[in-house]
Amino acid sequence: MAIIAVVGNKGGTGKTTLSVNIAAGLSKQSSIAMIDADPQGSALQWRAIAGSNVNFPVYAPTFSLREQAKNYAATSDYVLIDCPPSVHAPQTLAVLEFADLALIPVQPSPIDLWATVHIEKAINEAREVNPALKALLVINQLEARTTLSKLVREVLSEIALPVADTAIRRRAVYRNSALEGKCVFNFGKRGAEAAAELDSLIREVI
Ligand SMILES: Nc1ncnc2c1ncn2[C@@H]1O[C@H](COP(=O)(O)OP(=O)(O)OP(=O)(O)O)[C@@H](O)[C@H]1O
Ligand SMILES: [Mg+2]
Repeated sequence: MAIIAVVGNKGGTGKTTLSVNIAAGLSKQSSIAMIDADPQGSALQWRAIAGSNVNFPVYAPTFSLREQAKNYAATSDYVLIDCPPSVHAPQTLAVLEFADLALIPVQPSPIDLWATVHIEKAINEAREVNPALKALLVINQLEARTTLSKLVREVLSEIALPVADTAIRRRAVYRNSALEGKCVFNFGKRGAEAAAELDSLIREVI
């Protein structure tokens, strides 16, 4: 059904973390297939240790990402694609040409915010061939008390892409989930706040 690409123009913004946790959240009620389109293979690595912690597959990319994604979309409710850390990477460019939605995690740091300008351009270019492409910026690793975190929405308002109302906070449970091959939904009470913010983000996305 819907193909969701998690993209960005910088390393370490949280693409893989958000991909796997959004996939996990969606998988509570829907069927999910995930493609790891990043040659770093982090999502595949995570899946290899996750075992039965989650109930969806993560696939290595095949020759045609488009064909692969459309195939999974025919039998799954959502296809999530974790992309490399550049909007100029061939995988990202290819995915933006057929995805329904680009989710773009951004950290409240100046360098991340500068990099979003390239994303806006890439989204606009992709829309020439994929006019239905939606895009949503997601603030990730928010620390409520820092000045930059307070300013981040103001800065992002200069970019002509919508920003999700739900911001994802910096929380140890996101790091631990990667380490242990889990998602935040596997952590019970310890993951409750993260699970709640993810559910809220998912409601905005679908
Ligand atoms: N909300 C968060 N709170 C705490 N840690 C986070 C959060 N989001 C991501 N991280 C951590 O930040 C690091 C980078 O995250 P991640 O690997 O998901 O980013 P990425 O954009 O996929 O990176 P790359 O560009 O290398 O693929 C990881 O150690 C991850 O555990
Ligand atoms: Mg990654």
